[in-house]
Amino acid sequence: MKVTLENSLAKFSDKFRLSKEFTEECKKQIPGAYSRVSFNYGPHAIFVDHGEGQYIHTIDGHRLLDLNNNFTVNILGHNHSKISAALMEAIPKGFSFGNPMKHEKHLAEIICERVASVEKIKFSCSASESCLSAARIARAYTGKNKIAKFEGGYHGFIDDLQISAHPSPECLPGPDNHPAPLADSAGIPSYTIENTLILPQNDFEACEKILRENAHDTACVMMELQSGAGGVVVLDKEFVAGIRSLTSELGILMIIDETITLRADVGGLQKIYGVKPDLTVMGKIIGGGLPLGAVGGQAKYFNVAENGQVHLSGTHHGHPLAAVAGIACLEVMDKAAYDRLNQMAGRIKNELNQWADGNGYPFIVYGEFSFFGYAFTDKPGRQIKSHRDFWRYTNNDHILTFALEMANRDFFPVHRGQIALSLPMSDEDIDGLIMTTKEIVAGILG
Ligand SMILES: Cc1ncc(COP(=O)(O)O)c(C=O)c1O
Repeated sequence: MKVTLENSLAKFSDKFRLSKEFTEECKKQIPGAYSRVSFNYGPHAIFVDHGEGQYIHTIDGHRLLDLNNNFTVNILGHNHSKISAALMEAIPKGFSFGNPMKHEKHLAEIICERVASVEKIKFSCSASESCLSAARIARAYTGKNKIAKFEGGYHGFIDDLQISAHPSPECLPGPDNHPAPLADSAGIPSYTIENTLILPQNDFEACEKILRENAHDTACVMMELQSGAGGVVVLDKEFVAGIRSLTSELGILMIIDETITLRADVGGLQKIYGVKPDLTVMGKIIGGGLPLGAVGGQAKYFNVAENGQVHLSGTHHGHPLAAVAGIACLEVMDKAAYDRLNQMAGRIKNELNQWADGNGYPFIVYGEFSFFGYAFTDKPGRQIKSHRDFWRYTNNDHILTFALEMANRDFFPVHRGQIALSLPMSDEDIDGLIMTTKEIVAGILG
């Protein structure tokens, strides 16, 4: 049956009527209805009542298979027994002190043992804060000022980095091989924009030119190996190796933001790439569902923090409950758990891509691990190698229609064409996801 945006929207509004009404109530006090813009799902958010395993239960009374998992946080799904038990044990002891508790050290040990490039680590409450910490360390360590980042790379909502994460099809400033910086929000000072270099993904020649010309004043390159918020773009291994040797040669710190990609492997996506960054930013899964961010790296980079030159500190940084939840989560996440997640992702990708190819549909599932993208493109077989490819060749109306229609059929993916799996998902869940995807894609394109 033909699936259109109009029909899907109408069904969505009807099915999630209570969420829609509550959204209107929220607007009385909260601008835009929620503190988090990304809650919006087309016309409004879907309010959740509770989560359980791989499902969310909405206030409208529906159970949805959660393919969003709080934008990749909930790798173990919801209310995992090990995380809940650890929190229940910790809560009676109190949860906010002007003193450290022991948990932070335990979590630091786990991460330092797993991520080869991380010898020392500092926690915060969010990856945004830890990206800022990483940039501050890089500036202090190198004595240089500018930050280079990739177009389409999202590193949190701080002034220094919320630049060119979300340029739109209407506004892709500068040539492809030399994108111009563009603030993603009003209120970001012009001096921040002037101190930001924007690099094009997977174009080494262009990156080399920009970095060599600015090496004298560039402190770091901040990058994701597979981007998330600005569209899923996987960097080529040779490209990443090239950036690693170039930054080492030019005295620029390479910062890999593994906020999402720590999902890929016990040692992060950097392990799969065989690359050793100077600093690594982490977030999402390391807090087990509670707010936690971290920056880690070789000990020498943390001298500037240890000797007090660089101030990295906040009231709730390394919060004990978040550390407790993070320890419980990472303890469950052994190699077999990562393998299971990656195997489910591989199956979805292979089956859907083969099916789309076989039918000549311009639809792809792309990305490398349990967080991946799907897109309706301009022609069968199209590859997305950069943020600009994403905007130029994908059909965002179709992506929205797909997301709404998935919710209408009891699946909840990220609205901008992304899926994050969770460990409790069963083979039957994956069967259902593949079958429903085929029905909707055929309904949209047929
Ligand atoms: C790669 C990356 N870095 C940083 C952030 C910011 O994380 P937080 O929202 O915890 O501040 C995000 C959030 O989605 C992200 O995806």
